[in-house]
Amino acid sequence: MSKSNMEQDILRVLYTEEQIRQRVKEMGQELYERYADKDPLFVGVLNGCFIFMADLVRAAQMKSELEFIGLSSYRNSTKSSGVVQITRDLQRDITGRNIIVVEDILDSGNTLAYLKNYLLNRGAAHVGIVTLLDKPSRREKAITADISGFVVPDEFVVGYGLDYGQHYRNVPYIGVLKPEVYSK
Ligand code: IMP
Ligand code: MG
Repeated sequence: MSKSNMEQDILRVLYTEEQIRQRVKEMGQELYERYADKDPLFVGVLNGCFIFMADLVRAAQMKSELEFIGLSSYRNSTKSSGVVQITRDLQRDITGRNIIVVEDILDSGNTLAYLKNYLLNRGAAHVGIVTLLDKPSRREKAITADISGFVVPDEFVVGYGLDYGQHYRNVPYIGVLKPEVYSK
């Protein structure tokens, strides 16, 4: 990065912009193969999905719709509270739709377990889960992603949409946050 006052808080780079671009391209192709004839509805989980979603829907290049849902289970800490709240609901009927949920990271699984159940209860025909990152070591709910970008170690990561206390979302790569940043 040429000039950034965020770099000093990053311990190390986990995935570079180029690695992310390559992987997202593959994920887009995979989605095309699975969903191109299904007019799917992408449902992005705000706010973390916003950069990934923008790249993924362009990598997939298929006839589809998109929509966002706001969910919150984090309260400015690095751990999930386990309680999921809808902060912005869907704006349309999803009855009978083939849904592709787009999430930044699957951690404890509380958020996606809740969301999958919510979408099925609202009448979705199918709910597929795409996550950029997967941290399986921390799973509390029995939920798996249908497509995941990278499996990450049990460290707190930021960038490419992922935040700590709403900061660092605009770091263009994925990096491990220095523990002293969140332990102070
Ligand atoms: P879960 O409900 O514990 O699976 O958490 C999912 C949400 O927690 C994600 O959408 C992220 O917002 C947040 N999260 C979990 N791990 C990290 C991380 O390492 N960095 C940034 N956000 C994270
Ligand atoms: Mg999030």
